[in-house]
Amino acid sequence: MTTDLQAEIATAVDQRRNFAIISHPDAGKTTLTEKLLLYGGAIHEAGAVKAKRAQRHATSDWMEMEQQRGISITSTVLQFDYSGYTINLLDTPGHQDFSEDTYRTLAAADNAVMLEDAAKGLEPQTRKLFEVCRMRGIPIFTFFNKLDRPGREPLELMDEIEQELGLQTYAVNWPIGMGDRFKGVYDRRKQQIHLFERTAHGSREAKDTVVDLGDPRIEDLLEKDLYYQFKEELELLEAAGTEFDLAQVHAGKLTPVFFGSAMTNFGVELFLESFLDYALKPGSRRSTQGDIDPTYPEFSGFVFKLQANMDPKHRDRIAFIRVCSGKFEKDMVVNHARTGKTVRLSHPQKLFGQGRQSLDEAYPGDVIGLNNPGMFAIGDTIYNGKKLEYEGIPSFSPELFAYLRNPNPSKFKQFQKGVNELREEGAVQIMYSTDESKREPILAAVGQLQFEVVQFRLRNEYNVDSLLDPLPYSVARWVGGGWAALEKAGRLFNTVTVKDSWGRPVLLFKNEWNCQQVEGEHPELDLRAIAPVA
Ligand code: G4P
Repeated sequence: MTTDLQAEIATAVDQRRNFAIISHPDAGKTTLTEKLLLYGGAIHEAGAVKAKRAQRHATSDWMEMEQQRGISITSTVLQFDYSGYTINLLDTPGHQDFSEDTYRTLAAADNAVMLEDAAKGLEPQTRKLFEVCRMRGIPIFTFFNKLDRPGREPLELMDEIEQELGLQTYAVNWPIGMGDRFKGVYDRRKQQIHLFERTAHGSREAKDTVVDLGDPRIEDLLEKDLYYQFKEELELLEAAGTEFDLAQVHAGKLTPVFFGSAMTNFGVELFLESFLDYALKPGSRRSTQGDIDPTYPEFSGFVFKLQANMDPKHRDRIAFIRVCSGKFEKDMVVNHARTGKTVRLSHPQKLFGQGRQSLDEAYPGDVIGLNNPGMFAIGDTIYNGKKLEYEGIPSFSPELFAYLRNPNPSKFKQFQKGVNELREEGAVQIMYSTDESKREPILAAVGQLQFEVVQFRLRNEYNVDSLLDPLPYSVARWVGGGWAALEKAGRLFNTVTVKDSWGRPVLLFKNEWNCQQVEGEHPELDLRAIAPVA
């Protein structure tokens, strides 16, 4: 390997920042994404992303849905350039199509942006996604959105994060007023106030009016009462707030906090600039060969998501691969760690952004989409050079459970094959009853759509019908202590024990409350919402 190549990779890594947005539906993820792309020049008019979203939501028909999915495939990763950086925004599917992919995408992200509606604060989906980020220890940046509308007190919002997520907060900017009286934000880094001006939906890059903190006009510009309130809050922050510590940010223990209004495009650029200063560049990843540095000159990466095409005429699948080291080049031949085979990476797909469709090269931190000839499964490693395998992707806590029945015994084999293949691909988790007389698989999913996908694909790809028999549980916990701990704990109330595909014990509960009760009474069970990698 030439040192030239290494230098090229090192430069590319230094310039790259990758992140995913975690949020609850309606917090403004689509709007923020759109505004970020606007700054990156990837789209010229805000509204383009939203139009696609509207189309996708307007339909429930399967085939139509899949056609819309074509759009969501191309927008799975949005790459754009800004201020000398190449930024990869990994889109986490949300809304109705919330599925395990949403979690898995976080396995490929180096940073996360936690987006909250300032009127609502922490919401359930955000909390769950946060847990995955915490597990990975990635830096989390918080953006409180919709300041142009009445919302909760900023200090209260930050306190909620500290108390409920155990994450320290540091306000990088601070809002002045809110709702009708939203005046702008104060940038603590530069000690400047960015004044808010109402624009029509912020469809162009906004140019903020900026004044220094010492500017004599401030009192009038902000209105007296808001100015004094702001001064007081600022003093409080300086005196009692957490100190900024970048190492703590990188360790995922301290979240830099921003306030703004994505819809009016206010505070977005300010956020982006600080984010780029603070975010982690692509780092090393744990593998069977130890930690692999991104500048290791041999190409390697892992599959974090598979997207199946539901049109039976085009049974192709796309495997999304996060590049971890080296340089990807179109048509390169790599090793597939799980099977020991080699595979040519042809027809790589570039995702949305800058209008390019095919991709010739990629660097660590980038994501490539490959037409998958069926050989890839979630978590698979591909590599050149010495053999290595990256740590797999864990199973995430499902919340919907149903027996999947085969109404046609003569098709037993196909049914079994379909279920197994869909499980391997990661379309859904499969569990089994501990009662030997109940052989049907239990589908376990994080979103309803996963059930529908399984049934649809069984019918279309394996030619078998299936019946769903929902189970009344909503919480699953793996038993870290294993079967031995479970036996020792004796009889447990309000729960049922099942086993996952690897034969590990999992407890299912009707609700969170029942789960907490068992957790409290039996700490030795070591209950876990996210399963260790099998
Ligand atoms: P999501 O992807 O997180 O689900 O949220 P999305 O961006 O679709 O935003 C949800 C709603 O919140 C949208 O309104 C959007 O316009 C609004 N919104 C986003 N950011 C802001 C903001 O900073 N301020 C205010 N006031 N609203 C914001 P909608 O009525 O559902 O859609 P639309 O009619 O605006 O298109």
